[in-house]
Amino acid sequence: MFITFEGPDGSGKSTQIRKLSEYFAQQGYCVVVTNEPGDTQVGAQIRDLLLNPVYQGITPETEALLYAADRAQHVRQVIRPALEAGHVVICDRYIDSTIAYQYFGRQLPGDFIECITRQAIDGIMPDVTVVLELSTEAAERRFRRRAEENQADYSVPDRLEQERMEFKDRVNEGFKYMAIHYPQRIMTVDASGSIEEVWQQILSGLRERNII
Ligand code: TYD
Repeated sequence: MFITFEGPDGSGKSTQIRKLSEYFAQQGYCVVVTNEPGDTQVGAQIRDLLLNPVYQGITPETEALLYAADRAQHVRQVIRPALEAGHVVICDRYIDSTIAYQYFGRQLPGDFIECITRQAIDGIMPDVTVVLELSTEAAERRFRRRAEENQADYSVPDRLEQERMEFKDRVNEGFKYMAIHYPQRIMTVDASGSIEEVWQQILSGLRERNII
């Protein structure tokens, strides 16, 4: 079983992923929680290239290829072996992030994105994708609150978090577009509520799809 989580920065994916992995573990499954970019040794280097704000000159094409390179490694080294071993794999971001950020956000050509994504994933598609939906303004408010509370991860915005509001709005449109066009794979959850409210929506959505 391969489950991916998507949504804007600040939508609360990590918390919900933790809850879902605990849920599966309690049912006796072996769960692999992973994320993109950066979950392999080479991926960690690619992640730094992608997100470290010192690299301001990265072109959209370079950025897309780096995400694809990270994914190619991740699929072959982590995701496929775990799925073949019968584990539940939960991944924080996957192909829909490329479509939302590089296709809708950066406005790169669709055939380029499709080609590099196809090569990277080598046929490994999620069984279900949970998109946590949150407006750009609400996501920004959460980000600022976390920064004020001085949580280490949120103190300095990374290169993508420093993008303008128009970019982030386009990214959000991208997630909406994907959810509308691929309703069988993608379930959208309103992420503006409390942790527990969001969790209950995820549980009922996954039950409806016979995933749990
Ligand atoms: P990360 O700190 O992992 O963000 P989050 O906790 O919100 O998932 O940073 C990942 C960033 O990379 C995030 O801004 C989204 C972006 N991204 C893309 O632009 N394209 C992609 O294909 C992926 C996987 C991520």
